[in-house]
Amino acid sequence: MKVAKRMQLIEPSGTIAMAEKARELQRAGRKILNLDVGEPDFDTPEHIKQAAIGAIKNGFTHYTSSKGILELRQTIAKDLASRKIEADPDNEIIVTPGGKHALYCACMATLDPEDEVIILAPTWPTHFQCVECADAHAVEVPCGPSYVLDEEALKNKITSKSKMILVSSPNNPTGGVMSPEEIKIIVDLAVDHDLLILSDEIYDRIVYDEVEVRSPASFDDGRERCIVINGFSKAYAMTGWRLGYAFADKDVIDAMVTIQQSTTTCPASFVQKAGIAALKGPQDIISKMVQEYDRRRKFIVNQLNNIQGLSCSMPRGAFYVFPKIKKLGISSLEFCSKLLEREGVSTTPGSVFGESGEGYVRMSYATSLETIREAVNKIKGFVENYV
Ligand SMILES: Cc1ncc(COP(=O)(O)O)c(C=O)c1O
Repeated sequence: MKVAKRMQLIEPSGTIAMAEKARELQRAGRKILNLDVGEPDFDTPEHIKQAAIGAIKNGFTHYTSSKGILELRQTIAKDLASRKIEADPDNEIIVTPGGKHALYCACMATLDPEDEVIILAPTWPTHFQCVECADAHAVEVPCGPSYVLDEEALKNKITSKSKMILVSSPNNPTGGVMSPEEIKIIVDLAVDHDLLILSDEIYDRIVYDEVEVRSPASFDDGRERCIVINGFSKAYAMTGWRLGYAFADKDVIDAMVTIQQSTTTCPASFVQKAGIAALKGPQDIISKMVQEYDRRRKFIVNQLNNIQGLSCSMPRGAFYVFPKIKKLGISSLEFCSKLLEREGVSTTPGSVFGESGEGYVRMSYATSLETIREAVNKIKGFVENYV
């Protein structure tokens, strides 16, 4: 057999698979309205681009330290401090080519075969895949369509094999944001049962109505058992640049650096310079993007709730809505496939975000209001005529 047994357990990315199908139809000449996008539709700000161009012109085009350049780690440490996370830039930060690679390194660095990782779901499919890549087992704890912690359900899933709790708030796909009190409950349980916490905070800058985002690493007793994942893709519209980072204690970071050394070596040198410009430059670019997402958020939720058979709660962060389609009596995969084929609207089935995502569909509003308006009209027609 050419392919490792492990690959039977790891499913190809469900979010990417649906998007690929949509692109295929697009190439064949169909007009497709994409609500499947997981990336900002804004351009990377000019001063960030210029920093990379300047770095290339100055010959900053060679390998860097596998931890990432010190100036960037120091800048990240300052940024983390603004979120009440004290990080030592020499030992407790690694810069990676994207948050996704940081997640992969974190799982490979900490999980042994047979370890159980409790995943607060629904959640981004990569969380499951990274755990499975490390030959560990994902154990799902449903948090519903608003990503609310069910303390009892979480307690019930903790066993002697549990090694880690994975939380991702603000959440993809629901847009839910856990309160500081819920995060503290997770920290307390992790302390009681000696568990690690893997906290994916990639959407922490994209929140609405002044919702408070609190990292488990910002609590004194959470800090030492926490691995925080973050990056530049979402906040600074830099998805294609591939730049992310992780914060954890020295032992974990050292292990992650070893993995990075033997996989990607380091993120691109000039991209790291762009990261410094992003963090040191004007931050109002983020609030401008968030204001625009907010307009679209209110519009799409309102429109979806006007469609009989659908119900949608108001997300508090990220740029996704997660309407319930259970009343329609079809699976989320069938809903999305038929919607794409018949109406040319591309969305993502809730089932790819874990078992508890079934009965829901993820729609991204990181696209223009015109596209959202047109797409929602088509969804209305689809629900009324076909389902
Ligand atoms: C929850 C979550 N975490 C992490 C990422 C990774 O982002 P990147 O690898 O571009 O930094 C994404 C991207 O969609 C995401 O949705």
